[in-house]
Formats: sequence, C-alpha cells, structure tokens
Amino acid sequence: MTPADLTSANTLGLPCMAERFCAPESLADLQAALAGGRGQGEALTLLGGGSNLILPEHLPGLVVRPAMTRWWLEEGQGDTVRIHAEAGVGWHELVMALAARGLWGIENLALIPGHCGAAPIQNIGAYGVELAEVLEALQVVSLADGGERWMTPRECAFGYRDSIFKGALDGKVVITRLILRLSRTPRPQLGYGDLAARVGTSPSALEVAEAVCAIRREKLPDPAVLGNAGSFFKNPVVEAARAEALLSAHPGMPHFAQPDGRVKLAAGWLIDQCGLKGCREGHFGVHERQALVLVHFGGGSADELLAFAERVAGSVRERFGVLLEREPRLAG
Ligand code: EPU
Repeated sequence: MTPADLTSANTLGLPCMAERFCAPESLADLQAALAGGRGQGEALTLLGGGSNLILPEHLPGLVVRPAMTRWWLEEGQGDTVRIHAEAGVGWHELVMALAARGLWGIENLALIPGHCGAAPIQNIGAYGVELAEVLEALQVVSLADGGERWMTPRECAFGYRDSIFKGALDGKVVITRLILRLSRTPRPQLGYGDLAARVGTSPSALEVAEAVCAIRREKLPDPAVLGNAGSFFKNPVVEAARAEALLSAHPGMPHFAQPDGRVKLAAGWLIDQCGLKGCREGHFGVHERQALVLVHFGGGSADELLAFAERVAGSVRERFGVLLEREPRLAG
C-alpha cells in the first residue's frame, strides 16, 4: 500500500493525494486490507469508479478501491437469468455485454459511469428504470469485523437516489457483489422522453441501450473531456401545495407526481430558469446542455466547487423557494 494520486480516479478531475491506497482483487485481499486499516485505527475511504464523489486535496488514512472484476450468468427459472457481478465490474460495460446477449432489465441504464459496487448506494436510475427494480440481492462485508452477509432489496431501503448505504450503513460496509435478475423476454421500457421515437417498434435490448447512450452523449459531458459528476443535485420533491403554487406562477414547469402525493421537480429546469445554464465562475461552471451538471474546467478544488454549487443552489432558493440537495458524496 502506497500513497496514490487520485486525480484521474475521480471523474470531476479534482486533484487528490491519498495517504495510502490499495485495490484488492479478491474478497480475501479486501478483508485483509480492511483488517490492516482497522488495526492501525486509520480513516477509511471506499472508492468505486469515482464518478459520484468529491475528493479533498489530501485524503488521510486508507483508500480502498475494490478491484474484483468477475461477473457470470446463472440460469434462473423460466425466462429469467441471474447475473452475479463483483464490485469492481464497470457498470456500463456490464450493461452493454448483457444487452448484447439479449437480456432485458438494465438497458436503460447504459452509459452510467461507475462500478457495480457503487450502483446500489445512490440506487442509480435513468430513463424510467432504477437499479432497485432488478436487484435480487447484494453481498456486503462489514468494516467492523470483515464478516460477509447477503442483503435483500427490502433491507437496502431504496428510494429515489437513496439507500441505507447513505444512511444507517454509511461507512459501515463495503458492497462486494450484486445479483441482478434479468429477463430473456423483451421488456422495452420506452416511456421516458423521446426514447420511443429513437428506436423501432420492436427494438432489441442492444438497440435500446445504444439509443440511451446516444441521448446521454448529446446532453451529458464526457468526463474524459470535461470533469463532472453527472447530476450534481437531486431532483427536489416538494409538497403538492408548494408545487401547485409554483405551477400557477410557472405553468411550463416540468413536474412529476410521486406515489406519496408529493411532486418531483426538475432541478435542471430550475437552474436553467435562473439563467445559469452555461455560466462559468473561475474553474467551474454549469454545463451548457444540461443545467443539472456542474463541470470542472481544470485547476479547481473541492472547496471552490462546493462554494460554486452553493451559489447555484442559492439562486434557485431565492427565485423558487426550493432547496436543492447535493447528489455526489464528500470524501474525507
Ligand atoms: N431541463 C431543462 N433545462 C436543463 C435540464 C433539464 O429545462 O438544463 C428540463 C428538461 O427539459 C426536462 C426536465 O428538465 O423537462 C428533466 O430533464 P431530463 O429529462 O434531462 O432529466 P433530469 O431530471 O435533468 C434525471 C437524472 C439523470 C438521468 C435523467 C434521465 C437526477 C438527479 N438526474 O435528470 O441522471 O440521466 O433523469 O432519466 O435524477 C445522473 O445522475 O448523473 C444523471 C445524469
């Protein structure tokens, strides 16, 4: 375990030096690394694809990035297939490989960056599909004693961009393996945006995945070109009365009724309406094609990014009285 420069290991491209870093390639190596860290009582940071994380310039203690990268199929009952994917498997690569095999369930989640082990933390979702819908079980390792156990989706307490791993189990476990349940029977979910218009009447899973990739490439910046962490804010969910009041003042406001009677608003639209789309301050800016994405032009720091994000959220608060919650997590 050695110090490591994590600047290229986070998609925002924030400069970061980790005091000690390791990338265990097996469950046993991961457990040994955790035991070593515990023995020394040092701070521990878990890293996946680094696509939903804000890193400080100096990260003290141990950084562990699970690098177990095996995945395999297990035939289920009827037309179902179970997919086992270890934490270090690239999410997008897995989606494309499964869609190419004609397996349905996660094709709408193509091109979401990051590793499988991080996908449940924020319950990744896009184009009307969330991970929670296809997850059968996941394996975790306890940071306290290295013990392994399996959890059901119910135990994971999934919500919109939320799970128990952001709450009660935050900093308590490492997610080491997912089991997904996919289907051989075509089940296209084309209800979101213009997805249906982009594919034929009976598309293959791969065609849907490719259409999703095309939409995302049009709107979202490629982290390899321009630093970003995807959506920087969650879409805010407000009480029905609040949404009604806003709608009477702004009839064109996108809004989505939630099962609990509340209403989800589009943070990107709110930021856009504040005139901030494409704006730049110092090393950071609001993306010119999707106002929900903050971008890093290089040379900036986490503190500067957080101050910029606070100004963006402050504009929305002032104009609409709506609070925006940050989506990427702070490390260290
Ligand atoms: N909008 C604007 N201006 C903007 C951005 C959006 O007016 O600059 C409007 C759009 O026209 C649309 C509405 O806001 O009416 C919603 O926009 P969009 O469909 O692009 O989706 P989103 O709510 O901005 C969410 C996810 C994305 C995901 C898309 C598609 C969150 C926080 N973000 O964005 O996730 O790809 O839906 O399902 O829920 C990510 O997490 O990194 C991410 C990209």
